[in-house]
Amino acid sequence: MTLAPLDASKVEITSTDHPSAPKPNDQLVFGKSFTDHMLTVEWTAEKGWDIPEIKPYQNLSLDPSSFVFHYAFELFEGMKAYRTVDNKITMFRPNKNMERMNKSAQRICLPTFDPEELISLIGRLIQQDKHLIPEGKGYSLYIRPTLIGTTASLGVSTPDKALLYVICSPVGPYYKTGFKAVKLEATDYATRAWPGGCGDKKLGANYAPCVLPQLQAASRGYQQNLWLFGPDNNITEVGTMNAFFVFKKKDTGKKELVTAPLDGTILEGVTRDSIINLAKERLDSNEWIISERYCTINEVAEKSRCGELVEAFGSGTAAIVSPIKEIGWKGEQINIPLLPGEQTGPLTKEVAEWINQIQYGEVEHGNWSRV
Ligand code: COI
Repeated sequence: MTLAPLDASKVEITSTDHPSAPKPNDQLVFGKSFTDHMLTVEWTAEKGWDIPEIKPYQNLSLDPSSFVFHYAFELFEGMKAYRTVDNKITMFRPNKNMERMNKSAQRICLPTFDPEELISLIGRLIQQDKHLIPEGKGYSLYIRPTLIGTTASLGVSTPDKALLYVICSPVGPYYKTGFKAVKLEATDYATRAWPGGCGDKKLGANYAPCVLPQLQAASRGYQQNLWLFGPDNNITEVGTMNAFFVFKKKDTGKKELVTAPLDGTILEGVTRDSIINLAKERLDSNEWIISERYCTINEVAEKSRCGELVEAFGSGTAAIVSPIKEIGWKGEQINIPLLPGEQTGPLTKEVAEWINQIQYGEVEHGNWSRV
């Protein structure tokens, strides 16, 4: 018997009897409230993908022995839809999230799907609750596709049942009062990802173990961890985001935008990829080098001492870019300059604006925005 593929044309829709009113923008807290509907699709190894359902947001009912609760068969995506300046609803580069979601699924033996079918289903889900997508710069709909193994058994094996679901949360700007530059603690005593591991996949299991080191950093006055790896203390990521540094050579004035290479330990961030692409297109190549290479914490400390460390920021879907103002490392305080009176460096600010303009439809960029 051939297995049924994921098929958006088969979707069945049940609308809520109690549609909710949009919350005022100033009451939107990241990931705390959800839209009226959700998408669910069940999968079995026997039949493949079942009929997709869009239905009122509701609890799931799962056997307590389900794989997801015991062996972490869980992966997710984070993506956003925007109400543009000309009042269209667009998703930002959803194909990149679908591509990554399938890679995560493959890694933990959960079923894959045709990316276009899930994009189309998410589009239908968004349409169902489009009155709840907030309006205004910085406001958007955060979309959380999730895939879990639901086989009811305590034996560790390949899941023969899975559930794909999508929920959506109307969100505001990550930093309500504009940028807020963060302080990081360079962390070498805990490791986020390692060669041969799965740190490049968006698995829930990668996130829970990072909360304790974050609390430990917080107890010493830092908001996030700067994750280091290996004998050289390569800088890998920051908190749940990719990390970027800007160096400027004292003698030549040549500037370098650096982020870690995708070597299997770095999450393939969609914002990371967008920043690299835009930087290559828009920054003057006589002045700038765009590098996907490792830099070590010692290189950053050394460049800071000689005045060549000029900016640092994290990038992710939730905050887009997050400026960094200080890194604590073995008792040393590495300071990162900010624009006078502002919480950001100049390139950080520019990059955020580039992405913002594309996401809110002020500037077109290839087919990054999908209506
Ligand atoms: C992001 O920055 O988009 C993230 O991955 C954060 C998310 C886990 C809330």
